[in-house]
Amino acid sequence: MATSTSRGRALDTAAIRADFPIFETGVAYLDSSNTSQRPRQVIEAMEEYYFKFNSNIHRAAYSFAEQATEHYEGAREKVKRFINARSLKEVVYTSGTTESINLVARSWGEQNIGAGDLIVLTLLEHHSNIVPWQLLAARQGARVEYVDIDENGELRQDQFRALLEQNPKLVAFTQVSNAMGTITPAKAMTAAAKAAGATVLVDGAQGAPHLGVDVRDLGCDFYAFGGHKMCGPTGIGILYGRRELLEAMPPFKSGGDMIRTVAVEGTTFNDLPWKFEAGTQPIAEVIGLGAAVDYVAGIGLEAIHEHEVDLTGYAYEALSELPGIRIFGPPPARRSGVMSFDVEGIHPHDLATIADRHQVALRAGHHCAMPLMTRLDVAATARASFYFYTEKQEIDRLVEAVRDAQRIFA
Ligand SMILES: Cc1ncc(COP(=O)(O)O)c(C=O)c1O
Repeated sequence: MATSTSRGRALDTAAIRADFPIFETGVAYLDSSNTSQRPRQVIEAMEEYYFKFNSNIHRAAYSFAEQATEHYEGAREKVKRFINARSLKEVVYTSGTTESINLVARSWGEQNIGAGDLIVLTLLEHHSNIVPWQLLAARQGARVEYVDIDENGELRQDQFRALLEQNPKLVAFTQVSNAMGTITPAKAMTAAAKAAGATVLVDGAQGAPHLGVDVRDLGCDFYAFGGHKMCGPTGIGILYGRRELLEAMPPFKSGGDMIRTVAVEGTTFNDLPWKFEAGTQPIAEVIGLGAAVDYVAGIGLEAIHEHEVDLTGYAYEALSELPGIRIFGPPPARRSGVMSFDVEGIHPHDLATIADRHQVALRAGHHCAMPLMTRLDVAATARASFYFYTEKQEIDRLVEAVRDAQRIFA
């Protein structure tokens, strides 16, 4: 297990990296906002389930099935503590952030959004926090407005406040931009939106892994995040919802396990959170998520953020020294571990291809944030993204790869 750290002490990345078998390949992995790497502890927790007590949950009487159920529900307890939810009933397993938001858009949205209602989003959003709301608005005859960004890539709070004056029914925004790393003032925005009478969903896909969250302190109604960006497996995510809201919402998916009784005349539904967990669940993935929560919490969210700010500052300076570089987003202290940039005369995809020759994994594209790319007036950017296991030598390798690309395209 990696050493846990307290505030102000540098992370021991060498010890941490020994937990991640993939680093033995020599890759400089700078794509953690896309998906993080997984430590041995997560892989072994899933393996233990498959090797030692593989069985379905909530339904068999034999003892190792009970073990599976205990691990499955035990992971929920870990997540509850990680996000500081009031009750286990507020922690719903989904397949990822995308499904969490879709669940709210369908179940809460169709009950609560009507013709002419306003939904407020922002230009920082990932497509998964845009498209479900656009589709909901189309179904219900509602309208969607977007908060713009300023020249630093931060949300225009003046515009946000002006939109709140129109009494939106729903405000949905990201805690951290996946495309630029911008940290939004989520607590203040939530408080303002709640004061205006809106229901608030925060997209925590990039927030939970890098900043952590205390949903009670944040004050939002819904908070969505996934396992695979925080050292957990793919295919598992969380929807946190305030209990009163989840109680009042109809089921999203239906079938086995989400029911209490089924008769030919009709069905009554299970208690929370199982009302929203239909069918056989991704049990190994849930167990892996529990191990990931332990791992990330063991490193410490404050230490993770400090490490990322340090890396981002380092990358900001090193890249800024190169000619023809445009860096998107706020100064390092106000962002998470994401550097989105453009190199004059080199398409981001070409840059990523050359970086690959240096064994540097770099993302190029629109980062599922096309409205933001349009606003920045670019088709794509190159993006390097960091996590607690990232080292400065990997950023040096990125800078060398950019230099190489500039020599090739000179
Ligand atoms: C900000 C943000 N929201 C939502 C998503 C979608 O997450 P998931 O893969 O868990 O569905 C992502 C993934 O990149 C993201 O960065």
